[in-house]
Amino acid sequence: MYSGASNFVTTTDTAFAVIIGISVIFLVGITATMLWFVYRYNKKRNPVATQIHGSNTLEIVWTVIPTILVLIMFFYGWSGYSPMKKAPEDAMKVRATARMWSWLFEYENGIKTDTLYIPVNKAVALDLISVDVIHSLYIPAFRVKEDMVPGKTNKMWFIGQKEGDYELFCTEYCGLSHSYMFTEVKVLPQPEFDDWYAAMADTSKQSAVAAKPGAAGKRLVQINGCLACHSADGTKLIGPTFKGLYGKAHTVITGNSEREIVADDDYIIKSIYEPNEDVVKGYVKGQMISYKEQLSEEDIAHIIEYLKTLE
Ligand code: CUA
Repeated sequence: MYSGASNFVTTTDTAFAVIIGISVIFLVGITATMLWFVYRYNKKRNPVATQIHGSNTLEIVWTVIPTILVLIMFFYGWSGYSPMKKAPEDAMKVRATARMWSWLFEYENGIKTDTLYIPVNKAVALDLISVDVIHSLYIPAFRVKEDMVPGKTNKMWFIGQKEGDYELFCTEYCGLSHSYMFTEVKVLPQPEFDDWYAAMADTSKQSAVAAKPGAAGKRLVQINGCLACHSADGTKLIGPTFKGLYGKAHTVITGNSEREIVADDDYIIKSIYEPNEDVVKGYVKGQMISYKEQLSEEDIAHIIEYLKTLE
């Protein structure tokens, strides 16, 4: 499957096939020998035991053959693995951030997205960052996988060799919505990628997109990973859904007391900056961190515009 999707597919699949091949030969051989012994040395056949006092030939055979097999597996494993650790100098750098439970990709010109866009046949080097717990970035079609550990920057690189969309997901259990932590890699022809890259970097074009009500807010919600916990369609996730949230009355719990609030601008700002102050009834306190660092009041104004579109 996905042959040639990245530069690591052939070497990884070869190592896998060699190890599987050797394992299958042993499985069949050992099972056949075992069945033969069950038959040959059955009590009904009155087997006679032979005492053997050492055999140099046998000892050499069963030392040398397994050593050769292990070295063959090591050779294919190592020659496939070690190039994965050396990214070419001219690779395009992207910073990949994982957080419960979504992805953020930042390019050198400041573009932020929740989907990884890359040009075909170009080396891409990812810096892997986690802001909370251990995640792991996995692109099965590319045969690459690497843990993302808080406080440490891990590396990964690859060349997407075939245009198309490929799954990218978290493969380290990281909490309740781990299974929602997936996105896509989009491998584009170079000119198409260049257009996308320039358009995303050009803020004048972005404001043309943002002319649609709530579009800027929608983008902020996507790249900040809000949708991992707050659905836009009414589905109940870890946090309250955004659909029909704005302007409605909600019961919140502040400390030990309950009260009614209306989800107006002030409440939305407070719920993003101090999410554990007034917790909407029916939801667990402490699930969300403050987004004061990530979102300015101007950003939140855009998000409010977006929330207003979700009636
Ligand atoms: Cu992140 Cu599982």
